[in-house]
Amino acid sequence: MYGSRLVKIKNGAMCLLAFLVAAPTVQTNGFIYAKVFGGFEKIRTSICDLVAIARLLNATLVIPEIQESIQSKGISSKFKSFSYVYNEEEFIAALANDVVIVKSLPPKLKAARKRKQFPTFKPKSSASPNFYISEVLPKLKQANVIGLVLIDGGCLQPILPPNLVEYQRLRCRVAFHSLQFRPEIMALGHLMVER
Ligand SMILES: *[C@@H]1O[C@H](CO)[C@@H](O)[C@H](O)[C@H]1NC(C)=O
Repeated sequence: MYGSRLVKIKNGAMCLLAFLVAAPTVQTNGFIYAKVFGGFEKIRTSICDLVAIARLLNATLVIPEIQESIQSKGISSKFKSFSYVYNEEEFIAALANDVVIVKSLPPKLKAARKRKQFPTFKPKSSASPNFYISEVLPKLKQANVIGLVLIDGGCLQPILPPNLVEYQRLRCRVAFHSLQFRPEIMALGHLMVER
């Protein structure tokens, strides 16, 4: 099963087909939105963990909000958005078989979020799967939306128990296949290294 998915991810057409068939019918337990702080490394780790958490909780993941700007290194403040750094469409399509990902909360929920109506959590990078199942899931089901604030570089313990090996694979897949820098950012990265 996994092998065939990997092949699909490397093949654009197959990937698109899977996306069209799989995503819209999935029933989820609610939405997870997240603010992610840190430099490139921490942000990447956090996004990998978020995908795993969304899958674990059967939640719809809203494209994470990247909070940090590294203006000191000369990158524009637009770095604050996911789509400035990463290829958003590819991210959503590549993970379509695993997690439902949307670009933003539906308008009504967005308004409720502004009124701070939803529970938020600040999980540590060592948080256990059990923390999410026992502490976060009930709130998610109750409120339909929860927020996560990630400052630590990740929100899920690095070594997962053997019965969650599938989630470990998913994290790796996010890191190495689904999260692609936009070409402009790649070029910028090379420039920064050369300086
Ligand atoms: C998520 O969905 C799967 C498959 O429908 C189910 O087995 C699992 O119990 C669900 N988990 C949660 C946390 O809702």
